[in-house]
Amino acid sequence: MKAVSVSEFGTPEVLSVVSLPDLSPGPGEVAIDVTHAAVGLVDVFFRKGHFKDVPGMAQPPFVPGLEVAGTIRAVGEGVTGFKVGERVVSMSTGSGIGGYASMYLAPAHIVISIETRSIDPALGVSVIPNAAMAHAALTRVARFKAGESILIHGALGGFAAGFPGMAKMLGASRIVGTVRASKLDAANRTKLPYDLIVDSARLDDLGDEKFDVIIDPVGGIVRAQSLDLMRAGSRLIVSGNASDDWDQQLKSNDLWLRNITVSGFNAGAYLPANPEAIGPGLEAGVDLVAEGLGNIELELFPLEQAVAAHRRMEDRQLNGRIVLTTE
Ligand SMILES: NC(=O)c1ccc[n+]([C@@H]2O[C@H](COP(=O)([O-])OP(=O)(O)OC[C@H]3O[C@@H](n4cnc5c(N)ncnc54)[C@H](OP(=O)(O)O)[C@@H]3O)[C@@H](O)[C@H]2O)c1
Repeated sequence: MKAVSVSEFGTPEVLSVVSLPDLSPGPGEVAIDVTHAAVGLVDVFFRKGHFKDVPGMAQPPFVPGLEVAGTIRAVGEGVTGFKVGERVVSMSTGSGIGGYASMYLAPAHIVISIETRSIDPALGVSVIPNAAMAHAALTRVARFKAGESILIHGALGGFAAGFPGMAKMLGASRIVGTVRASKLDAANRTKLPYDLIVDSARLDDLGDEKFDVIIDPVGGIVRAQSLDLMRAGSRLIVSGNASDDWDQQLKSNDLWLRNITVSGFNAGAYLPANPEAIGPGLEAGVDLVAEGLGNIELELFPLEQAVAAHRRMEDRQLNGRIVLTTE
């Protein structure tokens, strides 16, 4: 099979196309002929070696990539409910590797069929896994209720983009996003179901508005400023650090005095520990895409252009997601 490998931690140029042995599924697994592999900022962090000292993280050489779309090539022992040739999307195995390849192995429980829905596989792989994570984060961690309001930082980012549609499906009363000023044009034309998107450097424009839930995959200064946008009982879900600011701190006494909750959500840790959240999340993700609530901008690159795709991911001008294609 064809794959993109990280030969050593470093710049995008460490990515190169290699030939690897074909894969066959073990018990409980399916093998997928990959047509589309999503590119995420976390792939860039993995490639740079940001998490190289975290136990269990892949060391070079490894094939990056968390999420794929394609067709079932073979099913392993004990797998029911999938047939060869069926169109599917898989979310991450937890290890966060293996997706940038023409073939991928996944445990069957993290794979969902898109066979009977009119879903573009490039959009499906870009949105369904993130929407499934949004479902778990909102229903199980934030305990989001119909009628509540939500603020989503980095509103057009890949992970963030799963939240507005999911919040709408869960009955949100108001859905607001923040982006940097350079993304306001893209925010104005987004088809995602935001009621409003504001400049993250001008949060004062929100006036006295407060939110029940805030989703923060960005970190840095907007994380600290989020506390002023919360009312008693609000929940801030810390779910990423796109800003790469690892020094940002919140004061624990602020949580007490403001009567607010700050929770972490990391799907790579949460879903393996709570696998029963995966199926309902994936089903909700398919519904979200089928209902047109996840229509983000896509940029497609051939697998062979993974270096260019990672450069694009790092230029901070992306308004949606990058997808690698194998065909
Ligand atoms: N919790 C989870 O389970 C989970 C799952 C997937 C990803 N993540 C995390 O979520 C974060 C975002 O990942 P993603 O794949 O959604 O990335 P993405 O598509 O690049 O989106 C990141 C967003 O963050 C904002 N941002 C602020 N400072 C940035 C910087 N220095 N570089 C790049 N973006 C910056 C950008 O919005 P503006 O340009 O508008 O500022 C951008 O739209 C990462 O930390 C990732 O590890 C978490």
